[in-house]
Amino acid sequence: MTAASGLGAAFEDRFGVPPTHVARAPGRVNLIGEHTDYNDLPVFPMALHREVRIALRPRDDERVALYNVSDEFPPVEFEIGPAIEPYVQGSWGNYPKAAANELARRFAIWRGFDGVLSSDLPVASGLSSSSAIVNAVGLALAHINEVPTEVREFAVVMADAERYVGTHGGGMDQAISLGARDRCAAKITFSPLRLRHVNVPDDWCFIVADTGERAEKSKAAMAAYNSRRAECAEAFRIVAGHVATTNMTEKLYTSYPGLVGAVEPRTLVEAAEQVLQGNLLRRFRHVVTEAARVEEAVDRMYAADVTGFGALMDASHASLRSDFHVSSVELDELVAVAREGGAAGARLTGAGFGGCIVALADRWTVGSVLETLVAEYFERRGLADRIDDRLFVAVPSRGASYGAIES
Ligand code: GLA
Repeated sequence: MTAASGLGAAFEDRFGVPPTHVARAPGRVNLIGEHTDYNDLPVFPMALHREVRIALRPRDDERVALYNVSDEFPPVEFEIGPAIEPYVQGSWGNYPKAAANELARRFAIWRGFDGVLSSDLPVASGLSSSSAIVNAVGLALAHINEVPTEVREFAVVMADAERYVGTHGGGMDQAISLGARDRCAAKITFSPLRLRHVNVPDDWCFIVADTGERAEKSKAAMAAYNSRRAECAEAFRIVAGHVATTNMTEKLYTSYPGLVGAVEPRTLVEAAEQVLQGNLLRRFRHVVTEAARVEEAVDRMYAADVTGFGALMDASHASLRSDFHVSSVELDELVAVAREGGAAGARLTGAGFGGCIVALADRWTVGSVLETLVAEYFERRGLADRIDDRLFVAVPSRGASYGAIES
C-alpha cells in the first residue's frame, strides 16, 4: 500500500497525517472439517483474497483509536490493559479489544495506534471476518510493542483472545488467517498447532456463496455454538470411559485425537451407539466421521481427485445437517442448487446457522455452477444486487502481514 491509496487517504482525512504502517489479515473458507477444531481434531481451510486492512500510525501512549470506513460500524477507542471493559455484546469494537486485552494479559504492551480499518469480507457469513479483525489488530499491536509473532504461537494467543467476545471457538480461523500460503489450503492439527500446506490443484475452483442469512457469532448463534461444544465434550467423556472399561482401548483417553487414533471410526461409532442416545450420539458421530473425512480429503487433494473431494464435501454437509443440526433451509437450498449446476460437491462452511456454502467445481464446470446459483437462488430471492460480494470464486491466498507503507 502507498500513503496515497484510498485507505491511506481516509487515514489522513481522519488524523491529519499520513499512516506509517499497514496490517492485513485475510478471511478464510473452510473446505472440510467443521466443528472439529475445538475437539482438537483436524480442519482443512484456506485463506481468502478478501481481507481486513488497517492503515495505522503507532502512538506513544496506551490508547487505540480505530475508525471503520463503513458507517455501519462506529469508531472504537480504548486504553490497552489486561482487563478491558467490553462494549455491549455484539459490538464490532469487542474484536479489537479482544486482541489488546489478551496481549496485555500476556506481555508488557503499552503502545497503541491510530488506525482506519476497511474490510471486503462479508460480515457474519462464516468467512471469519471477525477473526481477521482480531488478527490484524493483534499483529499491529505485537509489532508496535515488539512481541514475537511466530505463527504457531501467535495463532494460539489470538484464538484465546477471541474468546473475550464470549464464543468458545476453536483455533482454526486465527491459524489459517495468520499462517496460510498462496495457492495452498492447509491441514491444521491442534495441541500442538501444526499447519501442513497443500497445493490446491490449478483447475479446482472453490465457489463461495452467501445465503444472505446472517450468522452472528456474537449473538444468537453463540449459545447454539457453545452448546455444541459442551455436547461434544460430554459425549467424548462417556464414550472414552465406555471403551476403556470394555477393554477396547488399553487406557482411558482424555482427548478426541487419542481416541480417534486408537479405534477406527466405524467401530467407535458402534461403541458410542451402546452408551449414547439422541443428540449426544449424533454430535459424536459427526465429529468422528468428519475427522476421518478430513484425512481422506487431504489425500484426494494431493491426488487431484475432484470427484472424490466433492463426495466428501457432500457427506460433510449431510452430517452437519442431520447429526450436528447447524444447517438451515437456505444453506440446504444453496447446496442443492450448486450440485444441480454441476458442482462436484457442496457444503455449508464455518459454524453454520446461516452464512455461506462452499462448492467445488473444476475450471470447465465452474461457469455453469455460478450461472445456476445466480438464476436459481440469488435472482429468485431478490438477492442479485451486490452479487460479487455474495458469490465468488475463492483465491487461495497468503496469511496476514504487517509492514511499513512506502511514501
Ligand atoms: C467458527 C469457529 C471455529 C470453528 C468453526 C466450525 O468459525 O470460530 O473455531 O469451530 O466455527 O468449524
